[in-house]
Amino acid sequence: MEEGRFIRSNVIASQIEIHRQYGGVFPEMASREHVRAILPVIREAIAEAEVSWEDLDGIAVTYGPGLAGSLLVGVNAAKGLALGRGLPLVGVNHLEGHIYANWLATDGEPPDIQFPFVCLIVSGGHTELVLVADHRDYRRLGGTLDDAAGEAFDKVGRLLGLEYPGGPAIEGVAREGDSIAFDLPRAWLQGSCDFSFSGLKTAVLRLVRALEREGKPLPVADLAASFQLAVVDVLAEKTVAAAREFDAQQILLAGGVSANQLLRQRVRKRAEVPVLYPPPILCTDNAAMIAAAGTVRFRAGERSGWDLDVLPGVGLVG
Ligand code: KG4
Ligand code: ZN
Repeated sequence: MEEGRFIRSNVIASQIEIHRQYGGVFPEMASREHVRAILPVIREAIAEAEVSWEDLDGIAVTYGPGLAGSLLVGVNAAKGLALGRGLPLVGVNHLEGHIYANWLATDGEPPDIQFPFVCLIVSGGHTELVLVADHRDYRRLGGTLDDAAGEAFDKVGRLLGLEYPGGPAIEGVAREGDSIAFDLPRAWLQGSCDFSFSGLKTAVLRLVRALEREGKPLPVADLAASFQLAVVDVLAEKTVAAAREFDAQQILLAGGVSANQLLRQRVRKRAEVPVLYPPPILCTDNAAMIAAAGTVRFRAGERSGWDLDVLPGVGLVG
């Protein structure tokens, strides 16, 4: 990463094919695959960037939130390399990484980010609405009370017999479906900035079971489209309302679910301020976003010690 905005290389080792066989992430398998992939990925990243270790100013690594076993592989590899190469180490919050994916230049142009902004972070493990007043200055406005948005997509995807991960699979089949075929519940929670998707998931489950009992073929496309609209409706409405309430200059979308085209479209349509989101490949987990967030912390003088530990359940902290 150069200047925290220009990607020199961004190598992604995906485990999707492996987890697909189990219909979801299998934690032990995930950490074993991390062990296998990490050094080849780092070598490839260095080669692709056409840099040598002497050119580097520091190493950024995420310490959480996430799966302990996988985080440990990353943190220990980063510590070993930092110690061995005499480079400073900077720990980065994974959710902060997702936000900073928005800083990355695409087609050579870095986006013009204006504070304060409201950011909706929607990933497989998180749904958070935050007000960002400046770098490293976060105020959590709300979040999910039960399932994360991505988790709801994954669970409903499995229910509909679609392959893992459910998000892109649902988005794909929903294109052929009618989004008002089924009137699914939306948890508005009295206009708060919190979210809840478990009721929606249960409603889809009941529908599927009822249709199965009647021996009818599942209208997968209509169910997927109606479910997607129910999720996106709530995400978009609450994000736009929060931006209005807190006088945000911009709205940023982040995390795997922000790759969803309907979500992007709905937020853009309702928002009164510019809406930014990373290209899909930078919405889902990647190292460039961790390096971008790490650069900000590095420039602010932050360094992590050799006691840097993983924090699997940590939230987003300033
Ligand atoms: O941010 P991410 O790569 O990993 C976590 O930190 O969790 O997010 C993965 C999540 C998965 O739940 C996946 O189903 C969802 O993002 N996702 C999508 C789309 N692409 C990925 N959800 C809806 N629409 C998409 N196009
Ligand atoms: Zn993530």
